[in-house]
Amino acid sequence: MNQRINPRTVAIAQRSFERLRPDVEAFSRSFYTRLFQIDPALEVLFPTDLDSQRSKLVAMLDQMVGHLSDWDALLSESQALGVRHAGYGARPHHYVGVGSALIWALERHLGPHFTPEVRDSWREVYEVFFRAMTDNRGQ
Ligand code: HEM
Repeated sequence: MNQRINPRTVAIAQRSFERLRPDVEAFSRSFYTRLFQIDPALEVLFPTDLDSQRSKLVAMLDQMVGHLSDWDALLSESQALGVRHAGYGARPHHYVGVGSALIWALERHLGPHFTPEVRDSWREVYEVFFRAMTDNRGQ
């Protein structure tokens, strides 16, 4: 995988993530609620304590978004996360629902700041996460 993210996309994704920060807990709640509506079969894969799960997701997104311009760091973090996810039962097709839930939660929590440009930037960023997480694992 040899994809770099254009600096404008990085800046837009980072700025919009900053906007979520004051209400990041509500954002992560919306994300999981939406995810389990989209793909109810996923719910059983998750621990019942979603509180700690939510904080781990937010911390990881924070770290990955912070590393969007640091390709080596982003790649190694995402690949390691992808290997752990293979162990959790995540399969490539599951990433579609996760991506939709993420975009949906961003739209909901960014409100008027969720412009088409923000949406497209996050789609691009999520595609990078997805590709790195599912790369080189023979799936
Ligand atoms: C970009 C996409 C994703 C990100 C950033 C992400 C992030 C995370 C993080 C940070 C954790 C905490 C544990 C760890 O760090 O290993 C986690 C756990 C988990 N993720 Fe994801 N995830 C993503 C996609 C998915 C997908 C597609 C699935 C589909 C099944 C999934 C299912 C799970 C499950 C089941 C756990 C809980 C594992 C356990 O504690 O038993 N994730 N995820």
